[in-house]
Amino acid sequence: MRVLILGGDGYLGWPTAMSFSNKGHEVFIVDNYLRRNLCRDLDVEPLFSIPNLLSRVRIWKELTGKEINVRLGDCCDYNFLTKVFNEFKPQTVIHYAEQPSAPYSMLDHNAAHLTLLNNLISTLNIIWAVKENVPDCHIIKLGTMGEYGTPNIDIEEGWLEIEHKGRKDKFLFPRQASSLYHTTKIQDTDLLWFYVRIWGLRVTDLMQGPVYGLSTDETELDERLSTFFNYDELFGTVVNRFIVQAVAGYPLTVYGKGGQTRGYLNIRDTIACVELSMLNPADSGELRIFNQITETFTVNELAGKVAKVGNERGHKVAIKSVENPRVEQEEHYYNPVFSGLKELGLEPHFLTDDVLHSMFQIVENHKENIARHKIFRGVKWKS
Ligand SMILES: NC(=O)c1ccc[n+]([C@@H]2O[C@H](COP(=O)([O-])OP(=O)(O)OC[C@H]3O[C@@H](n4cnc5c(N)ncnc54)[C@H](O)[C@@H]3O)[C@@H](O)[C@H]2O)c1
Repeated sequence: MRVLILGGDGYLGWPTAMSFSNKGHEVFIVDNYLRRNLCRDLDVEPLFSIPNLLSRVRIWKELTGKEINVRLGDCCDYNFLTKVFNEFKPQTVIHYAEQPSAPYSMLDHNAAHLTLLNNLISTLNIIWAVKENVPDCHIIKLGTMGEYGTPNIDIEEGWLEIEHKGRKDKFLFPRQASSLYHTTKIQDTDLLWFYVRIWGLRVTDLMQGPVYGLSTDETELDERLSTFFNYDELFGTVVNRFIVQAVAGYPLTVYGKGGQTRGYLNIRDTIACVELSMLNPADSGELRIFNQITETFTVNELAGKVAKVGNERGHKVAIKSVENPRVEQEEHYYNPVFSGLKELGLEPHFLTDDVLHSMFQIVENHKENIARHKIFRGVKWKS
């Protein structure tokens, strides 16, 4: 497969690029360093530094003999993007290139503006670049389970059949996000669905839950091939953050009652899900949606798991409920369907004590880099 990975310098993009390259796919990466720049500007750099993208692909080639092509540029620049599509003629494009942080999107007007423009215009440009250069190309878009919110009914995989006054039809499952970032993901889905109907594009939208972990077969080859590990409130995901908090002797920051339930997955499973979607593409004129999670936990359960393993390793882990800076339900019904990717062959990696021990080990190796002031900042959804 010729696969174009947009956002290929990111937490998920880089491990995906290496994995696909390792499997013999021809990989082309685009990134504009938005994430690196935001982290630098906001003083929330990852736990350890990561070589730039050009160095990363050079190291990858030295170690494996395999080539990954890179173009540094902005997906919101249509001239740039359409040239990349025209030059590479991808069979699959994976769209990771968005501002991915909910708290960042709620920081201030500038952050809201950047998030909205970046996420919607990049998606619009990708749709157009596919239509004008490679209309049969399969678009794999990373959405989020946060698009659904926490409804008091079971969450289906993307679609809901509704019977109303004796008639039936199928619609996108009702969406009700709880941050501006998640709202842009809903708007992405709507854009894709519109152009699927009008132009017959082939699209898979992966409603992904928060990802944890940093080890994949390829990142384990050499430390310089690691992916980002953010532990701050803006760009770190919850399991990653709790582990750093445990190692730093900082009480695990549970928001409010801690009954918020979400679906989670290991970074290895993200790569597997995207690959399964790529190898089994959506049909032309189809918007196919999978819920990309492997198990669900409340925040209290996650804190408990991290505390147990942390204590076994000799850390004295405390858990503290802090005032919830977000506007969200702290106790609610949550029952999402997530069978589609398993039917395609996904074999999940679960959040076991062993997985947590190996994450602790990596964080402990970099303990001296933990900056306590980066851990919690309390970005409020409303002041
Ligand atoms: N990490 C998670 O837990 C998670 C969960 C659900 C969904 N997602 C989605 O998966 C995708 C990837 O997430 P991630 O955690 O790897 O985020 P990330 O920020 O690490 O990666 C995104 C990459 O895209 C790049 N980028 C952003 N806008 C760009 C643009 N206009 N042009 C070129 N490059 C651009 C960034 O520089 C970054 O390297 C995002 O769309 C995110 O919303 C992530």
